[in-house]
Amino acid sequence: MSKQGRPAPNEAAGKSRDGFTSSFGVLAATLGSAVGLGNIWKFPYVTGANGGAGFLVVYLLATLLVGLPVMIAEITLGRRAKADAVSTLRKLAPARQPWWLVGVAGVLAAFLIMSFYSEVAGWVFAYVFKALRGDILSSDPKLTSAAFGALISDPLQALLWQWGVLLLIGGILMCGVAKGIEAVTKKLMPLLFILLLVIGVRSLMLPGAAAGLSFLFTPDWSKLNAGVVLVAMGLAFFKLSIGMGTMITYGSYFRDEQNVPATTLRVMAADLFVSMLAGIAIFPAVFSFGFKPEAGPSLLFITIPAVFASMPMGHLFMVLFFVLSAVAATGAMLSLLEVPVSVMVGRLGISRLRATVLSLLLLALVGASCALSNSTLAGVKLFGMTFFDLFDYLSSNILLPLGGICICLFVGWVWGKSKLQAALSNDGTLANGAVVGVVYLLLKCITPLLIALVMLKGLGWL
Ligand code: TRP
Repeated sequence: MSKQGRPAPNEAAGKSRDGFTSSFGVLAATLGSAVGLGNIWKFPYVTGANGGAGFLVVYLLATLLVGLPVMIAEITLGRRAKADAVSTLRKLAPARQPWWLVGVAGVLAAFLIMSFYSEVAGWVFAYVFKALRGDILSSDPKLTSAAFGALISDPLQALLWQWGVLLLIGGILMCGVAKGIEAVTKKLMPLLFILLLVIGVRSLMLPGAAAGLSFLFTPDWSKLNAGVVLVAMGLAFFKLSIGMGTMITYGSYFRDEQNVPATTLRVMAADLFVSMLAGIAIFPAVFSFGFKPEAGPSLLFITIPAVFASMPMGHLFMVLFFVLSAVAATGAMLSLLEVPVSVMVGRLGISRLRATVLSLLLLALVGASCALSNSTLAGVKLFGMTFFDLFDYLSSNILLPLGGICICLFVGWVWGKSKLQAALSNDGTLANGAVVGVVYLLLKCITPLLIALVMLKGLGWL
């Protein structure tokens, strides 16, 4: 029952809730959410464009001081309430305090992010097929650039690949949490690590690989400024899937005996490891063949194919690389779409099947604005950005940090230390008082202040 006395429809039904069934399942699904195109598509080019190792240091600080506490808070709230993002905040907040709006904002953010994310994922899936057929096997960036341009500027192809990806994700979600999300991510995550290691080792063995490593690991502090710090923080939010209810939703599927801080730390470390490996798989190869690293988002679709085409057995590695990207994108999209699906099931009382179909239809509509932003809608700009760029900017740099601030304030000032303590220690089973103390202090004072400062400064309002 919610505090307001009105039971959410799914609670009224009294059915036992679907959820993750094993510790490995929890880890695979949560890591599956964190690891995604953010690691493979965003992280390398953002790091490259913002000063390499100097940016990495800021990113690491953002992850530890902001990402980690917010992620712990979200998972804990979800696990306590065992409900979707909106219902969780309704249940745990005092009556008449509208904290559930944070959940509503989360649903909105999920649609915005999925709109451009499913589009990039569509390109990735298209590239798996292109790589298999050898279509993009050219070491001339002019040719790979033309191939990429032809794909994204063809409205029909762009739309069809996006909708195909949406159907795949919807199909998995319809199978449920344990039989869909958990079963799939348990298979995909090990595959992801194997592929990444194979490609990383291959890249490191190329002549001239050291230049790529020094690009990643030698700091260029002159590039750091407030805008870059905002980008680092936005990336930390995006990477860890926090600030919009994804982790509340997944937390609600966590088992009661799961050690939340330990699991979160593991997910964060593994996610960072994947990002580094992706950088190590990409940059040494880029430098080895004399390509330019700061190619922006097109690094993945223009430079990488040309790089692979230049190396022995490149065809095989190119296929592996795009399969890897598709695998990463799949786990992340499952978690994004699960937010609206679970809210619809929980609040509207409709079946999971219907909720999935409804979300897919909505997304096909909203997402089309991104799919077409390189063709039919290329001229349509808001605030000087295409829909694609606008949705990306709005979500990473504004919605997610704002959601993060709200979560911190809610746990720090409304929910309070004793409830956090009880929830994080699994009702006294775990002796982690010191960890809880640090997390609480961060959530109450430090993290929200940091987020607010970085946002205001980064947006030029301070
Ligand atoms: N973390 C994923 C990535 O790096 C993207 C993602 C999945 C996400 N769920 C999210 C980002 C929720 C923000 C919020 O690719």
